[in-house]
Amino acid sequence: MSQLPQAKFRNDYTSPEFTITDLDLTFDLFDDSTTVIAVSKVIKLGTCNSLTLDGEHMELVGVKVDDIKWQDYQRSKTNLTINNLPDNFTLTIETKTNPSANTALEGLYKSGGAFCTQCEAEGFRRITYFLDRPDVLAKYTTTVIADKAENPYLLSNGNRIDSGDLEQGRHWVKWQDPHPKPSYLFALVAGQFDVLRDQFTTKTGRKVDLEIFVDQGNLDRAPHAMASLINAMKWDEQRFGLAYDLDIYMIVAVDFFNMGAMENKGLNVFNSKYVLANDQTATDADYLGIEAVIGHEYFHNWTGNRITCRDWFQLSLKEGLTVFRDQEFSSDLGSRAVNRINNVRIIRGPQFAEDSSPMSHPIRPEKVIEMNNFYTLTVYEKGSEVIRMIHTLLGEEKFQQGIQLYVERHDGTAATCDDFVAAMEEASGVDLSQFRLWYSQSGTPNVTATTQYNPDKQTFTLQLEQHTPATQDQPQKQALHIPMNVELYQADGQIIPLQIQGSPCDNVLDFKQDQQSFVFENVSEQPIISLLREFSAPIKLTYDHSDQELMFLMVNAQNEFARWDAGQNLIAKYLRTNIAAYQQNQAFELNDNVIDAFRGVILSAELEPAFIAEMLTLPSQNEVAGWYKPVDVDAINAALGFIKQTLAVELIDELTATYHSLKQSEYTIEHAAIGQRSLRNVCLSYLATTDIGESLVCQQFESANNMTDTMAAMSAANQAQLTCREALMKTFSDKWSHDGLVMDKWFMLQGTNPAKDALSMIRTTMDHSAFSLKNPNRTRSLVGAFFNNNPVNFHAVDGSGYQFATEILLFLNESNPQVASRMIDPLLKYRQFDETRQQLIRTELEKVSKLDNLAKDLFEKITKALEA
Ligand code: TRP
Ligand code: ZN
Repeated sequence: MSQLPQAKFRNDYTSPEFTITDLDLTFDLFDDSTTVIAVSKVIKLGTCNSLTLDGEHMELVGVKVDDIKWQDYQRSKTNLTINNLPDNFTLTIETKTNPSANTALEGLYKSGGAFCTQCEAEGFRRITYFLDRPDVLAKYTTTVIADKAENPYLLSNGNRIDSGDLEQGRHWVKWQDPHPKPSYLFALVAGQFDVLRDQFTTKTGRKVDLEIFVDQGNLDRAPHAMASLINAMKWDEQRFGLAYDLDIYMIVAVDFFNMGAMENKGLNVFNSKYVLANDQTATDADYLGIEAVIGHEYFHNWTGNRITCRDWFQLSLKEGLTVFRDQEFSSDLGSRAVNRINNVRIIRGPQFAEDSSPMSHPIRPEKVIEMNNFYTLTVYEKGSEVIRMIHTLLGEEKFQQGIQLYVERHDGTAATCDDFVAAMEEASGVDLSQFRLWYSQSGTPNVTATTQYNPDKQTFTLQLEQHTPATQDQPQKQALHIPMNVELYQADGQIIPLQIQGSPCDNVLDFKQDQQSFVFENVSEQPIISLLREFSAPIKLTYDHSDQELMFLMVNAQNEFARWDAGQNLIAKYLRTNIAAYQQNQAFELNDNVIDAFRGVILSAELEPAFIAEMLTLPSQNEVAGWYKPVDVDAINAALGFIKQTLAVELIDELTATYHSLKQSEYTIEHAAIGQRSLRNVCLSYLATTDIGESLVCQQFESANNMTDTMAAMSAANQAQLTCREALMKTFSDKWSHDGLVMDKWFMLQGTNPAKDALSMIRTTMDHSAFSLKNPNRTRSLVGAFFNNNPVNFHAVDGSGYQFATEILLFLNESNPQVASRMIDPLLKYRQFDETRQQLIRTELEKVSKLDNLAKDLFEKITKALEA
């Protein structure tokens, strides 16, 4: 690499020297050479009379200032600097780009037959030279010109204000967006689609046209997305008082997309994975994912678009808050407990792993080389946990007052995380001064709890100690303000009211010091404590609950999350002992009491099936790996397999009875029906490991009338390596090989195949006609699944998995650096492993780091990983 990529620091923020208030864009669309004319109204804010614009991967045709051809400029690989400018002027820039050669899927590119754009975070600078930063807000007018037969639909942000026909079969449409916006929210789409239309009337009486654009022939897969959009619009009015602000809301589904979806003003662009669903092609999880992502992008209209980010270090301002909002949306519409459980699994698994990796960063990062590298679990998911803690500390009513104040103050502007916290603090009167540290401190706090009961004084003392281990980015840590939600129970299951210093006290304790004690009074018997209820803070908690106490909480805790958590903790204890047993060549063991506790869960008449399914789901291999250093993938795999099979064998009657009792004749996506299928299919995954597995799985596959049950059968066959696996896989690919999105499920099963020769089969699978490394969904399904969810094979001690990773990374570094950079993540965590594997991975990272054309996405991560 000739010049090393440069980092930007949060503390170096300066406001722009110029701003652009209006932008008039004209696109003359051709596959190989599209002309863009950008006419900006520029206003000088500072003292400098040279304007530096961002721009890359383009051809510059010409520059005019106030209609005069301007020659006084310099270009670099990433900038255009125009000199000797007046104070206010009109700037005209003409550029050319090549959409069909754009495999990075950033800027203007072709997805299948359609033109589309992706501008967040810094993709607009591949379309024209501009002040491509989120604190420059302009009003956009966009004219799109293209061949009419190939591109009957020409779309951009805002309202369609004019259109017409041209010579040579071309036509044009003009769009105007009345809301000033940063360049990252710009979008353009042109192509041929089928359109699903509906309408929504807001609480203020605005009639909004809703349009969902899908590839031709896919209209029957769009209704769930439309229903989700309407639900999201209603929900945001009811729960947050926020209504939509344009007369049209469009969603376009595209097959080539780097992420989930994008909240461009009035014109969302979606990965087709998060739009298309019918009962034959999509699983229940897909349906729920669509609801969540449609909600997420819609909620950005206020938290992101109307109020945007001052700079990219503030990304969590919009993402953490919008994830919180989409989680609440899903929880209000479906099961709150199931949603919470699954969100917590993500924090405890991959987010904790990220936060102890070389990429550890605060939810508001301090230092960035490539912004695309910071669309992370930390910014999104931990960011949402930070908002949730504010919600816990303020309560719903004050939280909503805070949101109102935040919106009033900052509507139409680019704000900071500090602005948000200040609004919450002022509206509620709750002191958040120490709490702000959650924005600047990285890493996961370890909290250790101990308790003592004093029968004479009738007091119960809880001692809490917090310690955040150093992370690579930040050696020194301070004590955080941790909301610790607790409850005390008597042996008969009654709740003991909490009382401290003579007064009743809230369940949420303010734990703010390194060490802190809470003495509960009037406790007439040795209580059982439930800690970190609802996962009230993103921390690792250690408390020495006995098996009996955990089994008590599994049954008696007043909230479902606490019951689930007790069950997980009980399993965790036996995982640890069995992992140790494996390593010492001793026999595995699972206590009968534990088996009986789970028998009780299955037989419980009052629990919802969806919740029982969660109770029966073991922690993932990755979550368990996070408890260890060095990680022993084989031991973890063996212990998890042992616990699963032991429960299956011991509980075979209960699991079988439940399995058969939950058979449904018709498929609906009602939440109760989803819950029943999910329990039935968890039962199947256990039973697959027993003698009756082969026949049950086969039967289910043959009789399934929906994708959820089909996939559950194939998954069970894959995980348990049943003889029927091959036949089921073949039937499936014969049926679906024309449909990449459906084949992703099949690719995922190939990627996670536990068979010894999985890697060679994966290499063969890459030749499948439906596979392409140019498509991010395909890549993630097959290769991503192998890297992340096939630990035994990926970490094979001969290094074959790591060498394969390098081959993939070399390809993606050229074609799509953003996807390459996501794929490299598991390799960055090499220090968790034994010395042999560490050395093998380091060798591969070094190989990649020596590439001449190493993208800065990979450069940033590899540099961090190889640092001390
Ligand atoms: N803002 C988008 C979201 O939260 C994220 C996103 C979509 C994105 N596409 C991207 C981020 C491309 C970086 C690059 O839904
Ligand atoms: Zn988002």
